[in-house]
Amino acid sequence: MIRRRAFGRALFGGAAALASASQVEAKGEAEALPRDSADAPAALSPGDAVCVADFRRIAAVQLPRPTFEYIETGSADEVTLRDNVAAFQRIKLLPPILSGVATTDLSTTVLGVPIKLPILLAPVAAQRMYHPHGALAAARAAAACGTVFGVSSSAANSIEEIAAAADGPKWYQLYVPKNRNIARRLVERAEKLSYKAIVVTVDLGEWKHADRRNRFMLPREMLLKHLQDVGFPDVDPGMSHDQLIAYNAAAWDQALSWDFFDWLRSATKLPLIIKGILRTDDARRAVDVGLDGIVVSNHGGRRLDGVPATIDRVAAVLEAVGGKAEVFMDGGVRRGTDVVKALALGARAVLIGRPYAWALAADGEAGVRRVVELLRDELQNALVACGCRSVRDVPKSLLLG
Ligand code: FNR
Repeated sequence: MIRRRAFGRALFGGAAALASASQVEAKGEAEALPRDSADAPAALSPGDAVCVADFRRIAAVQLPRPTFEYIETGSADEVTLRDNVAAFQRIKLLPPILSGVATTDLSTTVLGVPIKLPILLAPVAAQRMYHPHGALAAARAAAACGTVFGVSSSAANSIEEIAAAADGPKWYQLYVPKNRNIARRLVERAEKLSYKAIVVTVDLGEWKHADRRNRFMLPREMLLKHLQDVGFPDVDPGMSHDQLIAYNAAAWDQALSWDFFDWLRSATKLPLIIKGILRTDDARRAVDVGLDGIVVSNHGGRRLDGVPATIDRVAAVLEAVGGKAEVFMDGGVRRGTDVVKALALGARAVLIGRPYAWALAADGEAGVRRVVELLRDELQNALVACGCRSVRDVPKSLLLG
């Protein structure tokens, strides 16, 4: 049994996130499912899914409850988690009629890399817990859809394995080992493997009741492989689960400051993206230190409850950035119309987290493909209805007020 405190620290790193064997065995046990899954059709299959919410319902049935709750839940009272979605719903579209538009070009570029649609896959940890093929399946789906796969430092496969699985564009999301030699090596590996950018997530440390209640964490073998994959040299295969958890809890730098980016710039030529910005002064500082991209994000409402919905911060961040960096957003994107709203506010593209985690759980690579395609089709439909010929030209005037 792992002490609660050690468990909390393990999740802080964002690097430990897989269910225990006993939780996996619990799969299939009848448990009341949280929230709206009670209304799920009993036999909804992935091929019948017509929207993101359908994949959520399938995942709710398929996954052991602790794993489902790891994906699903947010921090503390989940005010921010809910608001990420609700804020999109508060924004209204005001489409002009008779625009003579039959189809919209969804292709764009992100930091110079062409993609087929402005919907990227956000870095998500522990994907092998959702489906046996985990991040390898998600990477293949992203490549097939022509979009970027954001590779989590904690994806549960090495960056080499993910690179070998699919040759689509990838960003490497770096959690930073305290040992900067290992951090440097990670960045060099990503560069050598032709990853297109390094994403530094700065809102570190998830704080979720459900995960503490469930004592949700990586099983020993996965945690061992994860630490070895990262390249910690003194991880010993003979270490017990508790020892590995303690090692993991101590290995990551949770106290980054801005000077980290000077160091990172000296370590790589790749474009640098900061993920987790909500404030305009931070956005300006990101530009001042020469970062190439900003992801307006609150970590999907998983870190600090009570912060604003991300879509409500996009316009202010964009104004602060003044075109000197590309601005992306994530959090609460569940519909093609959400993407339209983000683009109209000036975001270059959006990232999705939970939608593809649910789809991965539901049907592996095919599920992730399908969920991206469903969002793509919703986006296409919405942009035609709004008279837009290209995702690169979505006017703010589409938004009411
Ligand atoms: C995440 N997120 C995340 N972010 C990150 O930088 N590294 C990580 O390892 C993870 N892991 C992770 C696991 C799970 C299960 C989720 C749901 C999310 C946050 C993620 O990149 C993104 O910011 C949010 O998921 C976006 O919100 P939505 O789309 O889930 O509402």
